[in-house]
Amino acid sequence: MTTTTVLDRSATAPDDISLHDRITRHPDAFRVLSGDRPTGPLHLGHYLGTLANRVRLQNLGVPVVVVIADYQVITDRSDPGPLRDRVRTLVAEYLAAGLDPDRTVIFPHSAVPALNQLMVPFLSLVTDAELRRNPTVKAESLAARRPLGGLLLTYPVHQAADILGVGGTVVPVGRDQLPHLETARLIARRFNERFGTVFTPPEPLLTGTPNLLGTDGAKMSKTRGNTIGLGDTADRTAAIVRGAQTDSNRRITFEPTSRPQVANLLSIIGELTGQHPSDVAAEIGDGGAAELKRRATEAINDTLAPVRRRRAALLADPGHLTGVLVDGTARATAIAGDVLNRVRTAMGMDYFAGG
Ligand code: TRP
Repeated sequence: MTTTTVLDRSATAPDDISLHDRITRHPDAFRVLSGDRPTGPLHLGHYLGTLANRVRLQNLGVPVVVVIADYQVITDRSDPGPLRDRVRTLVAEYLAAGLDPDRTVIFPHSAVPALNQLMVPFLSLVTDAELRRNPTVKAESLAARRPLGGLLLTYPVHQAADILGVGGTVVPVGRDQLPHLETARLIARRFNERFGTVFTPPEPLLTGTPNLLGTDGAKMSKTRGNTIGLGDTADRTAAIVRGAQTDSNRRITFEPTSRPQVANLLSIIGELTGQHPSDVAAEIGDGGAAELKRRATEAINDTLAPVRRRRAALLADPGHLTGVLVDGTARATAIAGDVLNRVRTAMGMDYFAGG
């Protein structure tokens, strides 16, 4: 299968330059772990953010593991939704975007029980005050507008188990996931201090893409319905972009603070074409919002056309998608089994070793 790389320049923030350099020099000294909750189809925000980064890292030769965080779906809702369909669609979208199942391990969290076994020692390493302070837990418990459930409270511990359980050392994340990663690092350090060195504290690799706005000017998110889906048609994409809010100033300029919606479309074009957004703005000049939107639609549809073709073909072959999950689960099970063995040895629970 051919692979796609959308970003030809570094997708990392400036403070990650040294990590990026270290990865480029020794790609196989790292293991990238990344994941998504199967709550619906992926959109352009995912594609330009974490997905492109994973494909780029994979193509650099870094071992990549992608966890489909199915148990995490019920952290903030009681109805898990149509998981079978969503997981299958997610796999098709990963492969369509360029993840190669021969190199990259893709598996559902629930299929690898060793990961959840790590929850027990990990829970002993954090306090309830530390968990309550986690900004993501706080924000999500407020948004969920119901009492804080045990799983939401321990969400960062659960995530630490899926990162550390498959030996993840680099985690490409958006800023919103940074507190979770801090918890994973804390747990790794405390485990090593208490029981002996088993874990490498994972490092965050910040994605450089600014938080993309949806076409209504609010944050791009599935629940708002303001997204451009990987699975949307070219016509629907054109319609969504046409409906995007801009402003009445005909001259197009890149001013993220005073003209956020215009800047957002310019950023999308810039990311997709490898140009700086101000250069895109200069080219459009007095072309106005119509020309801006024409270019945005063209850039999005041109980039996504092959992804969409592959996505449709993959979805038509469910047997292949199941095979990818079976294979990924076997590989993740082997990795996590190894880690769990080392944990048991460190904790003195290796009762069956030796004679
Ligand atoms: N919590 C992440 C999200 O909601 C998904 C996720 C699960 C994840 N496990 C992960 C992300 C490990 C990074 C690393 O988007």
